[in-house]
Amino acid sequence: MTLPIDASQAAGHAPTQKVELLGRVISVRGSQASVGLPAMSSQAPEERRVTVGKFLGVAVGKSLLVGLITDVSLRTEPVPRDHDYVAVAQLELIGEIRSGDAGTAHFQRGVSSYPAIGDPVVCIGSRELRLIFQTSGSRMIEVGQLQQDSAIAAAVDVDETLSKHFAVLGTTGVGKSSAIALLLQQMLQARPDLRVLLLDVHNEYGRCFGERAQILNPNNIRLPFWLFNFDEIVDVFFGGRPGLEEEVYFLSEVIPLAKSSYAQQMGVTSRLAGKAGEAAYARYTLDVPVPYRIADLLALLDTRMGKLENRASRMVYHKLITRIETVCNDPRYAFMFENANVGGDTMVEILAMLFRLPPNGKPMTIMQLAGFPSEVVDALVSVTCRMAFDLGLWSDGHDPLLVVCEEAHRYMAADYSVGFAPTRRAISRIAKEGRKYAVSLGLVTQRLAELDPTILSQCSTLFAMRMTNDRDQALLRSAVADTAANLLAFLPSLGTGEAFAFGEGVALPTRLKFRQLPARMLPRSDMMSGDQGSAHAAMDSRSLEAVIERWRGRVTKPRVNADKAADESRPASVQPSPSPQPAHGLDANRFRLLKRPPEDQSLNAGLERQMTEAPRR
Ligand SMILES: Nc1ncnc2c1ncn2[C@@H]1O[C@H](COP(=O)(O)OP(=O)(O)O)[C@@H](O)[C@H]1O
Ligand SMILES: [Mg+2]
Repeated sequence: MTLPIDASQAAGHAPTQKVELLGRVISVRGSQASVGLPAMSSQAPEERRVTVGKFLGVAVGKSLLVGLITDVSLRTEPVPRDHDYVAVAQLELIGEIRSGDAGTAHFQRGVSSYPAIGDPVVCIGSRELRLIFQTSGSRMIEVGQLQQDSAIAAAVDVDETLSKHFAVLGTTGVGKSSAIALLLQQMLQARPDLRVLLLDVHNEYGRCFGERAQILNPNNIRLPFWLFNFDEIVDVFFGGRPGLEEEVYFLSEVIPLAKSSYAQQMGVTSRLAGKAGEAAYARYTLDVPVPYRIADLLALLDTRMGKLENRASRMVYHKLITRIETVCNDPRYAFMFENANVGGDTMVEILAMLFRLPPNGKPMTIMQLAGFPSEVVDALVSVTCRMAFDLGLWSDGHDPLLVVCEEAHRYMAADYSVGFAPTRRAISRIAKEGRKYAVSLGLVTQRLAELDPTILSQCSTLFAMRMTNDRDQALLRSAVADTAANLLAFLPSLGTGEAFAFGEGVALPTRLKFRQLPARMLPRSDMMSGDQGSAHAAMDSRSLEAVIERWRGRVTKPRVNADKAADESRPASVQPSPSPQPAHGLDANRFRLLKRPPEDQSLNAGLERQMTEAPRR
């Protein structure tokens, strides 16, 4: 038969072609149409096989509606004799190919007119698929192939994906990190102005981007403590525990004073101010990122303590001073406290380094978080995400920046009592307002059910990979548009490296297969040295020494996260014993997810010892 419009007549393709009729519409309900199908021989060619996940077309007037099959079943109810339909396919209508006046056709999302009973249903061939997926005009990147027709590239619109955030979701081991590596490589290629900050929780991206990325770890990063805002620095001083009320209060009093004292010494206090100290106090609130010195902070606390008669109050000061000293002297914290007493406003250098301004051929920063003391990772993520947003805000989005966060459920937990509030605040600010300041977010998680649903709803492009947990699927279903929700039934059956892509970044909800990455570019944990195929050699005493060195000193290794244990490549012999329960009164969830147990923290252990001694003064 010949259709009212020749759907295969894509722009530039003139010849009219016969399109084979597959069936006819037998009922329509909302955006769903049922299609009656005649008996089909099992030898039918691949393109005529009707099964879930495939696209079909419905010819309506001058356009061809494009729908995705979500269900096929044998017909059981009686039908009028003149219809020999034996099967019914449910079609989710998602788009439309319209023919223009000049005989050219173009694709648009959504449908303008709905089918009626009896409208002809046809196969969607590769020409139509090409027309749908190869939108010209906008910046597209090719991330893989369509599942329906591997000859057709799966294209993603970079600008849409970036400006409205994206997320990669799926069970451990389905290829999320590989997908991120692929997406970022392509995005950087398509958008030379883009800079990327990748929060690499498991130190696995080190080799994926070659020369294009700068890699930061505790050995080469300097993030002075004064960049941390008050909540963050409290988190650092208290080793990831909520601070003790009195100590936190004293700290909040002296930090602004230390800031103004430093400013005075540097001669930047306003001369107009009557009382210099007071004026500076007013100018430097707790959270303003201006330098101060730990020595000044300690001296202020010491002076205040000296004025007190009451032993109990003196004890509080003493504890606070010891706490600060312990953290500052901990070699693992050198990245924050080195030069703590020298001063110097290095904010320009730090921002330039962290956010690649100018990029100098390396538009990307990989922050290897697994190397930092685990108690400080939350505060660190908070500081970097906050600075990423603030830089965008105060520079009016001069340089577009993408922040990619793995294990997003750790920082943005659905349960608000889990995680570090300032980190959540920093990331949700990017999610909610980042668009105005050219700061975008890319989230990765394998525990969708634990992720804050409001953050997921801010991500307009989703790459859903294999997902077997019912709760995860239910959550995703509520996050995507109705038309796409029916497609999610496929999720548990997706293969490794396959994804359903939804949302603004893709023309249609599509099942796609990500391009294969060469082995040398696959994200892999640093610890996984050499090729995986060879027999695993036991650690000799030299490598064991290196492990112990790391254990004790400068560089700590990542905490084991129950579900990622398989992903991680830690030798079994160095895995810590299961975490003991945290002390009473502390947030158990928080420690389970984010922290080492307090008993485990050498920082606190050392502190407790010192606490038991009487104050020196
Ligand atoms: N696009 C891809 N190209 C090549 N191999 C892949 C790809 N995606 C997944 N894989 C394979 O699957 C494994 C797990 O992928 P990974 O990205 O680490 O999963 P996840 O981050 O979801 O845990 C990889 O080590 C690799 O062998
Ligand atoms: Mg991963």
